[in-house]
Amino acid sequence: MLDVVDLLAEISDIGRDAARGGYSRRVFESPERELRAWFTRHAEALELDVSTDRNGNLWAWWGEPRPGAVGTGSHLDSVPGGGAYDGPLGVASALAAVSWLRETGHRPAVPLAVVVFAEEEGARFGSACLGSRLSVGAVDPVSVLGLLDDRGVALADAAAEAGIDPTGMGADPTVNELSSFVELHVEQGVGLADTPHAVAVATGILAHGRWRIRFTGEGNHAGATRMEDRRDPVVAAARLVLDARDLAAAGDAERSTRATVGRVEFIPGGTNVIASTATVWADCRAEDDDALADLVRAVSIAADAIASVEGCTVEVTAESVSPAVVFDSGLRERIARAIGDDVPALSTGAGHDAGVLAARIPTAMLFVRNPNGVSHAPSESASDEDCRAGVDALTRVLADLTGA
Ligand code: GLV
Ligand code: MN
Ligand code: MN
Ligand code: MN
Repeated sequence: MLDVVDLLAEISDIGRDAARGGYSRRVFESPERELRAWFTRHAEALELDVSTDRNGNLWAWWGEPRPGAVGTGSHLDSVPGGGAYDGPLGVASALAAVSWLRETGHRPAVPLAVVVFAEEEGARFGSACLGSRLSVGAVDPVSVLGLLDDRGVALADAAAEAGIDPTGMGADPTVNELSSFVELHVEQGVGLADTPHAVAVATGILAHGRWRIRFTGEGNHAGATRMEDRRDPVVAAARLVLDARDLAAAGDAERSTRATVGRVEFIPGGTNVIASTATVWADCRAEDDDALADLVRAVSIAADAIASVEGCTVEVTAESVSPAVVFDSGLRERIARAIGDDVPALSTGAGHDAGVLAARIPTAMLFVRNPNGVSHAPSESASDEDCRAGVDALTRVLADLTGA
């Protein structure tokens, strides 16, 4: 019987980031490919049939793929300097659940697929949940094949190097076989921290997206340019960071508006150089699509006003936008029955491939308690006991959904 804690221990050295702490496992780079190989080895040892779809998502099938199948899984990529659980916990739990079902003689009446989605975090090419969004046809491949990573490698070339034909990327029939999908994930807040519960069922996901905001000014000499003569885009970017924080903070209590600038780029980036461009990436989230649109509009208006005061120009570009998600109530009720009626319900501000699939099929998520509520950081955690409780819950759910 596979143990989720042992499975996570097996991959605990893969993709460590000495400089940032935690893990940096970017899609199609060698640590993520090593994780895919690890997944494939375990899935094949469980006698699952493993294949890669047009978009680099891995599928491990118990039973011949056909409509009516049940899916579970998550992703193996990470944010820069991420934790050990975001993604891998859902994948390792799925493997452990299948091994438990196999060894206890469960006979699925419908096929079961364990899925590893590609580029969930958008940490390499900037577009979150790219593998799932391409597969359901929510993204036009032509619009993303030219996306560049920070070393100038295009998505098309990175995919080709990983053995995926970039010309075939796009809507994929495999996903049409699924009639429901359940993703287990580490909780990314303190929703369960002070409760007696190790596991919760998700209710929904905030609307969210990423906007690239590029200020262009005038590159010049740091010593020879009088302060009043400058058109410094870094100053504009700094002001925007503060405005975005303030605009989101004003609506957080009522509309869960959140704005984060976690990444900046100053060109050319010299200590004694006034930059010519400054780019900030704003991650914006809110309780529904209207609230998100309002927040982004306000941030864009602020960017225009700041640019004009600082003598710069500004360009705002949406990189990826995900509407708010409400998970299927029937599936949630069924899950609650399968794992015990007192299971708590939690919403989340984090995006997931399950949210993408929710637009097409009944979809749900299980969250495993996170004692400090930290995620997307090295100190993300979950206890061994809670991880095993998560597998137990997922096993019951999958037994129920695939039962005769
Ligand atoms: C992904 O985890 C996100 O919510 O950004
Ligand atoms: Mn994440
Ligand atoms: Mn995740
Ligand atoms: Mn996520």
